[in-house]
Amino acid sequence: MPATILVGTQWGDEGKGKATDLLAARTDFVVRYQGGNNAGHTVLAGGQLLKLHLIPSGILYPDVTPVLADGVVIDPKVLLEEMDALTDREIDPSRLAVSGNAHLIMPYHLAMDAVTERYLGKLKLGTTKRGIGPAYADKAMRLGLRVQDLTDPKIFREKLEVVLKEKNLVLSKVYNRLPLDGDSMAEDYLGYGERLAPHITDTAALLYEALRAGKRVLLEGAQGTLLDLDHGTYPFVTSSSPVAGGALAGSGLGPKEVDDVIGVTKAYVTRVGSGPFPTEDAGEAGRQMGEKGNEFGTTTGRARRCGWFDAVLLRYAVRINGLTELFLTKLDVLSGLPRLQICTAYRADDEVFEDVPPHQSLFHRAEPVYQRLSGWTEDLTAARRFQDLPPAAQAYVRRIEELAGVPVRYISVGPDREQTLEVTTSARHRRPA
Ligand code: IMP
Repeated sequence: MPATILVGTQWGDEGKGKATDLLAARTDFVVRYQGGNNAGHTVLAGGQLLKLHLIPSGILYPDVTPVLADGVVIDPKVLLEEMDALTDREIDPSRLAVSGNAHLIMPYHLAMDAVTERYLGKLKLGTTKRGIGPAYADKAMRLGLRVQDLTDPKIFREKLEVVLKEKNLVLSKVYNRLPLDGDSMAEDYLGYGERLAPHITDTAALLYEALRAGKRVLLEGAQGTLLDLDHGTYPFVTSSSPVAGGALAGSGLGPKEVDDVIGVTKAYVTRVGSGPFPTEDAGEAGRQMGEKGNEFGTTTGRARRCGWFDAVLLRYAVRINGLTELFLTKLDVLSGLPRLQICTAYRADDEVFEDVPPHQSLFHRAEPVYQRLSGWTEDLTAARRFQDLPPAAQAYVRRIEELAGVPVRYISVGPDREQTLEVTTSARHRRPA
């Protein structure tokens, strides 16, 4: 049975949690392959809203095995807090599998994330301050501590001593901070290790065997295509690879294991943190999107910047990820906007670009070329079939599909699992009523 990859096509916050939750009902394994607790989704657990940052929402299904694979960076304190919060709501987290190769976020990573952002001043990236960038930097420097180190106190202490010596020098001499205490850090982390030990396993082998046994695997990207370290709007990106290629490297599966690559795309665009955003709307429309779409970060609570749908970026995401279908979210949020617009190209330095311009400066200066579309006033939240949508909403979806060259397979019109339309091929080709 082939695996499916689910990725965000924008700057994160496309509603991947909702998409994963829906698809998890039809899968056996839900796998995070990159990022850490910089991500976040809100789930309904035990009748209460619960924010999860690391554990995939598949945990809510008793038959699904949630996996944190090799490419993830793990703050074990946060992970254990999430597991405890689930247990409190009578959701059993014991199925969670954690790769021994995943790197650990350490207290000095959090400290470095804070001081380096402050140091950058106006040029700051607007990170989530969860220590993600410094943890991935240490991984690339071959200075990282990994989950498997937690199971060997001698090795853990030895590695920590070497690394902490350098970190404390930087923190105190460069950034004028107090040095961190290695003994208490080791004690805390080895304690976390004891609790996590039953979950630590070779997740790449687990997934390989699962696929051989005909099980269904969903590889869930965090953040989004434009936050990818290689393919995003560098340097305003995260430090890992959310794109479909990253799913293979981060989970340890080969390319032939995957058939579908689903792109989750919001019916408008949002971005948190700094960086270029050609279709940003600082006016009334952007305000409605933010308010009605409840566009505040799950992890940091920051208000997200909002803007019009950008088909140039979607086409880019289709190409970079090899998307086979789209999951369009939050279409209901656009109800009531008198007119809509979709960016179909950019204009920069008297040139028109139908793809992302080849140089960052052109992208920073890019002016959107918009196609106007009619809005609709109807509330969409009760729609359950494509045909239930008003003609203008059908036309909006169809135009996105045309511009992307990939079918929209699902449309979400509200936060509940039931508020999702599965678009059949025949519905897609029917003329609006
Ligand atoms: P970091 O991942 O905390 O290092 O932050 C780097 C950039 O990625 C910042 O602009 C963050 O706002 C952004 N970012 C990280 N995670 C998410 C996410 O889950 N959704 C949206 N933006 C994110």
